[in-house]
Amino acid sequence: MSGHGREKDKIRGLTVPAEGPHQVQTLQEGIGFVGQIIPWNFLLLMYAWKIGPALACGNTVVLKTAEQTPLSALYVSKVELVHFQGALEHKEIGLPCSVRRGELGIGIRVLVTEAQVAFTGSTKTGEAILQSAAMSNLKPVTLELGGKSPFIVCEDANVDEAVEMAHFALFFNQGQCCASGSRTFVHESVYDEFVEKAKARALRRTVGDPFKAGIEQGPQIDSKQFEKIMRYIRSGVESGATLESGGERFGKERSRVMWRFADLLEDHNDQIAALETWDNGKPYEQAAKVEVQSWADKIHGLTIPADGLHHVQTLHEPIGVAGQIIPWNFPLLMYAWKVGPALACGNTVILKTAEQTPLSALHAGLPPGVLNVVSGYGPTAGAALASHMDVNKLAFTGSTETGKIVIQLAEKSNLKPVTLELGGKSPFIVCEDANVDEAVELAHFSLFFNQGQCCCAGSHTYVHERIYDEFVEKAKARALKRVVGDPFKAGTEQGPQIDSEKFEKILRYIRSGVDNGATLETGGERFGTGGYFIKPTVFSNVQDDMLKAQDEIFGPVQSILKFKDLDEVIRRANASNCGLAAGVFTQNIDTANTLTRALRVGTVWINCFDVFDAAIPFGGYKMSGNGREKGIYCLQNYLQVKAVVSPLKNPAWL
Ligand code: NAI
Ligand code: MG
Repeated sequence: MSGHGREKDKIRGLTVPAEGPHQVQTLQEGIGFVGQIIPWNFLLLMYAWKIGPALACGNTVVLKTAEQTPLSALYVSKVELVHFQGALEHKEIGLPCSVRRGELGIGIRVLVTEAQVAFTGSTKTGEAILQSAAMSNLKPVTLELGGKSPFIVCEDANVDEAVEMAHFALFFNQGQCCASGSRTFVHESVYDEFVEKAKARALRRTVGDPFKAGIEQGPQIDSKQFEKIMRYIRSGVESGATLESGGERFGKERSRVMWRFADLLEDHNDQIAALETWDNGKPYEQAAKVEVQSWADKIHGLTIPADGLHHVQTLHEPIGVAGQIIPWNFPLLMYAWKVGPALACGNTVILKTAEQTPLSALHAGLPPGVLNVVSGYGPTAGAALASHMDVNKLAFTGSTETGKIVIQLAEKSNLKPVTLELGGKSPFIVCEDANVDEAVELAHFSLFFNQGQCCCAGSHTYVHERIYDEFVEKAKARALKRVVGDPFKAGTEQGPQIDSEKFEKILRYIRSGVDNGATLETGGERFGTGGYFIKPTVFSNVQDDMLKAQDEIFGPVQSILKFKDLDEVIRRANASNCGLAAGVFTQNIDTANTLTRALRVGTVWINCFDVFDAAIPFGGYKMSGNGREKGIYCLQNYLQVKAVVSPLKNPAWL
């Protein structure tokens, strides 16, 4: 096996040197079901670019080919459809059959249930896809869209070489390249000569039967081709490939099957190339160069060993103007999490504070204009930032509902990338071997801290049945001891809620808990007569469906649920659209490890809660968000990568 990067079994997390007595590690996990949509201009290349990394990371893939060009992807996916001229023999590709699927079809219908979408195609369709993703489950979307790439010829250029290269940059693949050098800028001093020679080169271009050697240019994708292909599409739709899970495999095994997959692709290169030419009309000599590469050089590579006599490097550059919208529950903390990495990466920041909490986000010591703080309301100031054409990136923390709004504003304006840190319904799981007194104290802290107004609050306290009654008794006693009152007074544990709207909402949730038959152990009403204070409230005998229907309570209300065994609590904890954080309380390392791996959340705290550190990444699975804040992970939110390519003129020395 040569020519392949061997990285599939090396996807690794980090161990983070945070301050204090905590062991911190990160796990890199597959996202789940990945939907991928590819265009018709580079079929197998697009196929490989998309499925390689998705499978290497342990995801299950549903790939929709372009309606014009279904053949090669279906063939390598071994969907048994293609039997033209009886010439093709099917060999077992070696991936578990449900792990990747070639899907046929027109449009974007298939996407609504996938966990992640990767799309290559037109900007207009990209916008449509982003919006269907935002309106369904906020699945993250990566886009590789069209370009209008400049090709710049300076006055000192070697005109003959420049002509040849500009010709290639545009005419390659019948001009059907997203990166094609479609705007050739030529310096006036060499312009006339360039035009003359470009014309001569174009006249020399060989156009014709794409199977013939020496042909440079085949036909365009056209309607006749399309009709021919439609027959295959219809038979594909009739055969109805179904989606099953199965992408979760250990790195080693995944690596093995992927290498087998790669080998077979290489072995079948000729058949695949023929299919590409049948499909697309591209010159056979240029079709289907199977190439499998590692992910490592794409994440960290600054100098890239590309094939051929070219020097390739990447530059990590700031995105430009970063717009940031923060909520009111941790004004200064949110400010720091947002502004720090954006500035560290060289961006200019416009930060909108929450209307409730404009005061703390001051700034000093920076060059004028670098950090700009705007106070204002969401639907006016916030929306203006999200939809501004000159803002290049948006980072948002707040409610899921508003997250959906800002992502749509970003799409409708300039497609700025958006990172989201949204709400959660975090489980706090107390196992039967836990020290009950410690668990009670920690569960209390995980929920009541900050008046219960934490995105990662341990709002679903699951307690093993064997210690349930004791736990409830002690949790109630602890809540009764909680000191509520003037937040400026020493010793006060709990102040008022943020405003009357949230205060009323919390009291409504409490009433509905009582109406639905949960047992109100303590609290349940306002504290005192003035201000938005709420008595620390504990419910027992809470059923999952009581909490499922509602969004975050976001107040001092603890709900204690009973469980019998680990599998059950894992299933119940994961049966949520959210996946921000979880607490696990146990003395047993095996139980801790099982829960750590099984819970679909961005942070797992074992025998602790709310441990934050600048080095520890924070963010959500599922609808709790996209992207990570803090740690080295947050830097990629604020950087873009530029590939720089130049020819090497003296290969003898390399
Ligand atoms: P929100 O998400 O509406 O507000 C957060 C930020 O978004 C504020 O700066 C606000 O001005 C801005 N905003 C609001 N509407 C906007 C729009 N149309 N365009 C652009 N920006 C907009 O949250 P809200 O209404 O204060 O609280 C509602 C619920 O959200 C809470 O009860 C809680 O459940 C949840 N929440 C979650 C937070 C978290 O840390 N994940 C923080 C705050 C609230
Ligand atoms: Mg709101």
